[in-house]
Amino acid sequence: MAVLYAELARNSLDALPLDRAVLAAFADLARTSAGHVAELGCGPGYLTAHLRDLGLDVFGVDLSPVMIDLAREAYPDLRFEVGSMDALDLPDGKLNGIVSWYSVIHAPPQDVPSYLAEFRRVLAPGGHLLLGFFESEGEPVTAFDHKVTTAYRWPIDELAGLAGEAGFIEVGRMLREPGEDERFRRGHLLMRLGK
Ligand SMILES: C[S@@+](CC[C@H](N)C(=O)[O-])C[C@H]1O[C@@H](n2cnc3c(N)ncnc32)[C@H](O)[C@@H]1O
Repeated sequence: MAVLYAELARNSLDALPLDRAVLAAFADLARTSAGHVAELGCGPGYLTAHLRDLGLDVFGVDLSPVMIDLAREAYPDLRFEVGSMDALDLPDGKLNGIVSWYSVIHAPPQDVPSYLAEFRRVLAPGGHLLLGFFESEGEPVTAFDHKVTTAYRWPIDELAGLAGEAGFIEVGRMLREPGEDERFRRGHLLMRLGK
């Protein structure tokens, strides 16, 4: 499944101008201070490589050793590490930016606050966080049968509220409707850690 996903995902951003726009906005903001950016739940690494191409000093972390092997093979010039987003092997305040692109989607809803708390711990004050996720289109948090394992669609306001409780200030949000081969509306939250 990881190999199939890596093949499908590799050039997926080419057809997604709004996704590229929100990633470019994140990169513009993150570049204003020096420091590392982490893509947490990086999967096969194509987005980590895209962030590098946007001028960021970025590395990837994923729970799946198979995904990390695929990422290292595809992008040997980038750093990828096995690890969990809720227990990162990083000192406090180490990062200048975090991208979690469809990676908190598999976390049971009650666990999401602990992920956000870990993001807050490893980000420097003023650092930026970009969350990409499936939006629930007026429904409460809803589980669905994702190809790999159960995933959840979130009301954008609810996820923004949890991030706010974790100390993040909203910079902006982007919603886009599903494309031809997609099932759900997509949500994107760009946040900044309060100083
Ligand atoms: C849907 S994929 C998204 C991958 C990549 N960000 C992308 O946009 O293609 C979700 C990824 O999150 C990873 N993941 C799930 N829970 C994680 C955790 N607790 N820590 C790190 N990675 C995790 C999975 O292994 C998987 O590679």
